[in-house]
Amino acid sequence: MSWEKKVRKTVPYTAGEQPKDKNIIKLNTNECPYPPAPGVKKAMEELMAHTDDLRLYPDMNASMLVDALAEHYGIDSSRIFVGVGSDDVLALCFLTFFTNGDPILFPEITYSFYPVWAELYGIDYKQIPLTSELTIDSYEYIPRLTKMKNGGVIFPNPNAPTGVEEPLSIIERIVKGNPDSVVIVDEAYIDFGGTSALPLIDKYDNLLIVQTFSKSRSMAGLRVGFAMGSEKLIGYLKDVKFSFNSYTMNLPSILLGTAAVKDREYFEQTTGKIVDTRERFKKKLNEMGFIFPDSKANFVFACHPDFSGEYLFTELRKRNIVVRHWNKPLISEYLRITIGTDEQMDAVAEALREITAAN
Ligand SMILES: Cc1ncc(COP(=O)(O)O)c(C=O)c1O
Repeated sequence: MSWEKKVRKTVPYTAGEQPKDKNIIKLNTNECPYPPAPGVKKAMEELMAHTDDLRLYPDMNASMLVDALAEHYGIDSSRIFVGVGSDDVLALCFLTFFTNGDPILFPEITYSFYPVWAELYGIDYKQIPLTSELTIDSYEYIPRLTKMKNGGVIFPNPNAPTGVEEPLSIIERIVKGNPDSVVIVDEAYIDFGGTSALPLIDKYDNLLIVQTFSKSRSMAGLRVGFAMGSEKLIGYLKDVKFSFNSYTMNLPSILLGTAAVKDREYFEQTTGKIVDTRERFKKKLNEMGFIFPDSKANFVFACHPDFSGEYLFTELRKRNIVVRHWNKPLISEYLRITIGTDEQMDAVAEALREITAAN
């Protein structure tokens, strides 16, 4: 089997389960429990009335969507890049910005796709331990202080799967301390009460912010993500994209994504509801003796001193509730529970109460 020796071998990312059974309370992949903005349905109906438009290649710059984002965030369109979900944007970022041979840095507990992309592209990496409060130790990220050069820095804020948010002062310290590297802040969960580092892109041309439509805009199924940064950074990202696949954004993504961005009021309403539900749910977890860092995301990362993560996961699964559990060092005792509707979270709290009381 000599040809197999020539094949690239990778260990792929493991995504959360997508159960087919509609009776399941699905809280394992941080989707939004509410439908997309009403304008999205209207845009879909208009698209269906003009299916002939699908004959043509889409606008490779996705200008309509980029311009809507530019207006929403109050920045120039030349500072925005869009892709097929933030996974697509992040994968291109690894390919574009992490190239010089020095190890890139990311937290030891973080989005588990980062080491997968690093392995895929042959990028060396170092995982930095979190503090005992699961926060980022900013000292470790500054080459001037550690004498360790890096090839780039990436971390989610709030972090995944912990939900812990770093203040802007820490982000700025990391960006300022790495003038020779690109620093990427993955803000997949920033819209649930967090403070975006977006204003810092005016000050630092090496800072890239990446966000997604999958969580706060209820559109995981559409696959839209975007990056915001200096015109220079976005220009390099576009060059790599156009050397890879010009037409990543299809016509439905451009039209429906644009409709979603234009409805600011609905976006604020749904994200506000999720924040309220999260805070109610935290109180209930607390009462049951769960331990968890203070989450600023649409999930809570919780463990219980008397019950293993695996046991809690299995018991919830028996009750048709699916959350996320990793059998991995450092995090195997935790469950990551996505925030759903009030009704769903009441059901989860009730199930956890029953499970923890029965022993
Ligand atoms: C931290 C983080 N970044 C990026 C993503 C990717 O999101 P998407 O590709 O759906 O935009 C996720 C998804 O769960 C995530 O948790």
